[in-house]
Amino acid sequence: MRLLPAETSVSLRVAEVVAALSQALDLGSGATRWHSVRTCILGMRIAAELGLAGEVQADMYYALLLKDAGCSSNASSIYHALVSDDIAAKRDVKKTDSTKLGWETLQYALTHVAPGKPFLERVRAILRVAAMRKRQARAVTALRCEQGATMARIMGLTEGTAEGIGGLDEHWNGEGNPNGIRGRKIPISSRVMLLSQTLDVFYTSAGAEQALEVINIRSGRWFDPDAVRAARSLAKRADLWTGLETHDPLSLALALEPGERMMSEGDVSLDAVCRAFARIVDAKSPFTYNHSNGVANAAVAIAQQLDLAPARVLFVRYAALLHDLGKMAVSNAILEKPGKPDETEWKVLLQHPAHTWNILRCIGGFEELAEIAASHHEKLNGTGYHRGLTAAQLPMEARVLAVADIFDALSASRPYRDALPVERVLNIMRKDAPHALDGDCLEALERSGIGCDQSFTDLQALQTMLAKTSQGLQPTPQTAEAVASRYAAGVYE
Ligand SMILES: [Fe+2]
Ligand SMILES: [Fe+2]
Repeated sequence: MRLLPAETSVSLRVAEVVAALSQALDLGSGATRWHSVRTCILGMRIAAELGLAGEVQADMYYALLLKDAGCSSNASSIYHALVSDDIAAKRDVKKTDSTKLGWETLQYALTHVAPGKPFLERVRAILRVAAMRKRQARAVTALRCEQGATMARIMGLTEGTAEGIGGLDEHWNGEGNPNGIRGRKIPISSRVMLLSQTLDVFYTSAGAEQALEVINIRSGRWFDPDAVRAARSLAKRADLWTGLETHDPLSLALALEPGERMMSEGDVSLDAVCRAFARIVDAKSPFTYNHSNGVANAAVAIAQQLDLAPARVLFVRYAALLHDLGKMAVSNAILEKPGKPDETEWKVLLQHPAHTWNILRCIGGFEELAEIAASHHEKLNGTGYHRGLTAAQLPMEARVLAVADIFDALSASRPYRDALPVERVLNIMRKDAPHALDGDCLEALERSGIGCDQSFTDLQALQTMLAKTSQGLQPTPQTAEAVASRYAAGVYE
């Protein structure tokens, strides 16, 4: 088993890390596995056919992989606006010609607006969504585009990459969002990205012929006609779809990167990429805002108190930042539910560490990190999830993470949620040690004196985001008592 490089990450390839992590974006968008990676393959082939310059292609490569980096920022708004599963709504919107009023949009509304609610409530919700359709679409797209571009900048990627992501939803005819830019004023990478993602969505769900028909119909309206011609000519030579059927298209995408960018080259570092993905996960719900960052701070404080070697402290930090990647697969209808999840919802929640493992194991050298990150809900007495591991199977780093995760979940204040005082949190946690939680880790946490609010750096960013939504975001507030009773019932994020 290879271990994560000790001090820095110089031997890690940026494309491999970003492409593997893009699976979290696929989960959050309701896309099929490897959608972002296949979109990257299609986009790079189209870019080559168009004869785009090398540096444009280099920027575009990462924009294609990270096109959905903003998908979590509007998940909560979409859930509240539609009163529905945000992930399913996002999955189907990519298949809908949402700019034209007609059967497709009506069918979309009937499927995704307040499903399962009483008739009158549904009708009211559909009318409200219809009345606010344009304004709301612009607002949620603006959130998504801004967040996506910001994530690229945090990772240290180029401005060209950030701008490409920011323009993903602009349409050739100027009727796209959020800025209604027209024609060649839209960055070329955004134009190729929109075309490529549509090709992949229809290719995987309905086949090559249907995918080509859709881009033909929307050519000159959604899509740059030159890019459509390039895709069609590639398809005619059978060069467009080659290899997309493989179960693991990662190596195909890696081979298409212009150059081989390594971590710590320029501004891209492993820490920056982990921080960005932590923010993507945390932006999903106002109840978990800044959680991954908070867990990372608590985990580092514990690891230092335990005198772990500096390389292991860093290792714990990365595992903590990425531990909840799999939560991207959990709908906000579950994450923001005021009461206890039902049986079906529990099953979805219980699987999120498995998703985390599945994503991280795809990065060469992350095998151990994947195991530790995916063990954050395990308990020493075997009562945790998702594998029910026991003490002998849980190394110190996993124990650190489990304690840090609960500490942040209970102690951090969030918009719409009270915090429990630290002493109360520690009292609750002491009852679970040493049979379920590691006693040494808990003592180390107490010794560290870490407070519940030290990691709370992004509140203002969240409030700015919320203020921009057209629909007020009003989850039911959670009291400190509710937080404590959710933990007692085994529910914490
Ligand atoms: Fe979790
Ligand atoms: Fe967590």
